[in-house]
Amino acid sequence: MALRKLVAGNWKMNGSQAALAELDAILAAADAHTTLDVAICPPFTLIAPAAARVPGLAIGAQDVHMAQKGAHTGCVSAAMLVEAGASLAIVGHSERRADNHETDAEVQAKASAAIAAGLTAILCVGETEAERDAGHALAVVAGQLDGSVPREGTGDTLVIAYEPVWAIGTGRTPSVADVAEMHAAIRAKLDQLLDDEGPKVRILYGGSVKPENAAELMAVAEVDGALVGGASLTAAQFVPIIAGAAAA
Ligand code: 13P
Repeated sequence: MALRKLVAGNWKMNGSQAALAELDAILAAADAHTTLDVAICPPFTLIAPAAARVPGLAIGAQDVHMAQKGAHTGCVSAAMLVEAGASLAIVGHSERRADNHETDAEVQAKASAAIAAGLTAILCVGETEAERDAGHALAVVAGQLDGSVPREGTGDTLVIAYEPVWAIGTGRTPSVADVAEMHAAIRAKLDQLLDDEGPKVRILYGGSVKPENAAELMAVAEVDGALVGGASLTAAQFVPIIAGAAAA
């Protein structure tokens, strides 16, 4: 089943008020390509100003806390994100799994909190280079999905992003065959975990997506869009990726 593609930008800890000017051209590209969805996930501090500047563009967060409120200094709840204007939240990014020691169970709780508040959760999975070299990539990702997919997730509320850790920010990408193999395996796992909703959950590829490789990657079976880091920071790079995905 061909799903409507989603091209999401993850600005990570980059951006400023001035950088929001990039969103004007990104919104224009989103409006020009009505066959797919486009989103930008800026740092927390830019969510509200981004949503105010481009109300027609989906804005997401890069993390969310699993609790509704309380004594969690420095954290942000799903309801706060909704109030700020977000409609999505990334959970379980490999940088947070590594830097903040987030476990699959925590990632699952964050995804559930996001969904309960009306956000779409973009749940990231992916193997390290050592795990791939050892032949364990499929098993590692299957384990992450078992441990972190919220079983109430649906095609509307849950998106999976396959981001091999070794491809993030390195300029390296897996072969088309390896992407196809992994995405087929993720689809099979979602079908098992989510029954009728499994086939409807979009599976994004992330890791060094650029204007030059976007169309090829987006044309792979079971690739339903992209999660883009560095190349989402400027409209000059991100708009051609949107166009490449629309053409795939
Ligand atoms: P890059 O596109 O910079 O490799 O980052 C990918 C990523 O981690 C998106 O979440």
